[in-house]
Amino acid sequence: MSAVLAPQVEMLPMNAGDLDEIMAIEASVYPFPWTRGNFTDSLSAGYSAWVCRVGGELVGYVVVMMAVDEAHLLNISVAGKRQHMGFGARLLRHALQVARRLGAGRLLLEVRPSNTAALDLYKHFGFVRIGVRKAYYPASDGREDALVLVHSLAEVSA
Ligand SMILES: CC(C)(COP(=O)(O)OP(=O)(O)OC[C@H]1O[C@@H](n2cnc3c(N)ncnc32)[C@H](O)[C@@H]1OP(=O)(O)O)[C@@H](O)C(=O)NCCC(=O)NCCS
Repeated sequence: MSAVLAPQVEMLPMNAGDLDEIMAIEASVYPFPWTRGNFTDSLSAGYSAWVCRVGGELVGYVVVMMAVDEAHLLNISVAGKRQHMGFGARLLRHALQVARRLGAGRLLLEVRPSNTAALDLYKHFGFVRIGVRKAYYPASDGREDALVLVHSLAEVSA
């Protein structure tokens, strides 16, 4: 009988060598993507940034900024062909665990009301809505609000 080995899933700290792969994903999953400079600035600032690799292939990434006792999820993305396979959930779980380990009491994020995939993921994890930032995002027809969501880190296991 032959055994089929599942490819290894790794969560690794993001570094400059990941940026070509990241930029290709970023440009394909967002109408208004981050620039390479946004990522290099995040790395220089020491934000907690991670990539998920499956059998070596970069399938997604997450960037978290610590602000005193709060953490902010700045970016979470999964390559289009790898979506709906649980990698977004893995990245979000990792971000919650890292934020808790770094001493944050809660994790905040902004999301477009039109981004149903992301909203479903956040709801799935128990994020709750705490506010709206008016005209926060650029949009094809002007500006779009941001919903502000929060997740307490008290119940996230380390
Ligand atoms: C949001 C995003 C990261 C989700 O990644 P993903 O790998 O597809 O998510 P998962 O496969 O882990 O899904 C986790 C859960 O989220 C929900 N979900 C994810 N995508 C969904 C979709 N398109 N429609 C409905 N539910 C969805 C489901 O509840 C799913 O749970 P299930 O598998 O039990 O049904 C991904 O869609 C993405 O990269 N989008 C573009 C970038 C983006 O918008 N990022 C968020 C900015 S705020």
